[in-house]
Amino acid sequence: MGYMIPQRDKIRRDKAIQWNSGRNPTGFQAFREGTLPFPDGTVLAKVAWKRVPQTFFATASFPEQATTVQFMVKDSKKYAATGGWGFGRFVNGKPTPLAEHKTCFACHQSLAKNHDFVTTRYAQ
Ligand code: HEC
Repeated sequence: MGYMIPQRDKIRRDKAIQWNSGRNPTGFQAFREGTLPFPDGTVLAKVAWKRVPQTFFATASFPEQATTVQFMVKDSKKYAATGGWGFGRFVNGKPTPLAEHKTCFACHQSLAKNHDFVTTRYAQ
């Protein structure tokens, strides 16, 4: 996997949590070139941090400790039943129960079935 390239196009802020996503070089190239479906070997990550307001500029905030990390790993054979994506969720460094992982695909399917189940788009 190596490293993740953080994206600039989506930061969601709610519940005092900041979300951001990244992808490995395979995923990044596919995003940039608009390749669908994403090739095997693509890894996408969604990372949430706690955030703390800045004292000198109230509407801005700093990311604090990471809370939740979620992954989507593309392997079209291994994960054929879920659109070729394996889903993983970790809270405070520990995997969450399997039952929770069974909810991932249904939602991504309803949100992004025309974009290989990936909600994020590349910012031009
Ligand atoms: C209720 C709907 C829903 C469920 C359930 C869900 N997701 Fe997502 N997921 C989203 C949305 C919406 C985004 C876009 C980022 C954002 O707005 O938070 C996203 C983004 C992601 C991303 C970044 C790539 C992309 O598609 O943009 C990953 C990785 C991810 N989710 C993994 C998971 C995993 C793993 C699970 C199960 C543990 C899961 N998701 C369950 C709605 C969902």
